[in-house]
Amino acid sequence: MSSVQACSASDDERRPPAHDLLEVAQRGLAREPKRLPSWLFYDQRGSALFEQICEQPEYYLTRCELSLMEQHAGSIADTLGSDVRLVEYGSGSGVKTRILLRHLHQPVSYVPVEISPEPLHRSVQRLAHEFPGLPLQPLCADFSKPLRLPIPPRAPRHTVVYFPGSTIGNFEAHDAAALLRKMRNEMGDVGGILIGVDLKKDPARIEAAYNDAAGVTAEFTLNMLARLNREIGSDFELTAFAHRARYNPMAGRIETHIVSRCEQQVKIGRNKALFRTDEAIQVEYSCKYSLADFAALAEKAGLAVLRVWTDPQQMFSVQYLARASVDPH
Ligand code: AVJ
Repeated sequence: MSSVQACSASDDERRPPAHDLLEVAQRGLAREPKRLPSWLFYDQRGSALFEQICEQPEYYLTRCELSLMEQHAGSIADTLGSDVRLVEYGSGSGVKTRILLRHLHQPVSYVPVEISPEPLHRSVQRLAHEFPGLPLQPLCADFSKPLRLPIPPRAPRHTVVYFPGSTIGNFEAHDAAALLRKMRNEMGDVGGILIGVDLKKDPARIEAAYNDAAGVTAEFTLNMLARLNREIGSDFELTAFAHRARYNPMAGRIETHIVSRCEQQVKIGRNKALFRTDEAIQVEYSCKYSLADFAALAEKAGLAVLRVWTDPQQMFSVQYLARASVDPH
């Protein structure tokens, strides 16, 4: 028997409505250097383009993580233990989640946390069909804010936060540590975190993943401007801007920018944003970690790395974290 808790409109914290979107754009473009938040990528078109990115030959992340999950699902499930409540940060409609759920021992419930109601609803519908015995407790919320988890149908032995996709890489070091610490609070004393982390490697290989030959990533990046045009009535001329993704080896991250090809001005509500030739809007960081880097980050958040699953080339890792026995300050 499946029990699905509906996502009611009242506790549904959405992304800012349109006028806030205008404010976000105005504020970000008034900064020096200009900067827009990466969550702006993910409207319907952007989410579809991201799915396409995952299929590009250069974008190794998704394939690597998926094959790790397929290969090690048994040992991952054993490490998490029985009677787990699985809380996923993100919509969790994905193949990786289904592999994990198929292998978990007597899971107590699955709690996908997702800010947009439609993808959340779709993922729950699909899972209810494939896992009729698993209680599903979707939560419409922003996972970067403190969560009130739904009451589980029975007492879990462990609460495990699942955060796949190397999404942790989108947060700068300080914010990443804060997010891990928040997960640590939500999972409780004996919980854990199962997290996908992209690893440092040959910079050319990393750069290629964010500059696919088919140009899907470029389209994904520029869709942010198309979205703003649609939703706040700005007048970005898409051909007058370019996608740029470069690996910064000192910072260990891909830095994605939207670069103005000429001097121009763009209408943003009542304001105008002025662009110099080659002026860039910073739109995304994708941080890469060595295993040691990530262990150090975990430690800052009061966590210890208990297990690492990685491929022979150490392209990508799936890691299991738990509370460090000694609590740092
Ligand atoms: C989904 C955030 C992990 O940073 O690799 C892919 C997003 N941006 N190509 C990443 C993304 C450009 C992706 N994450």
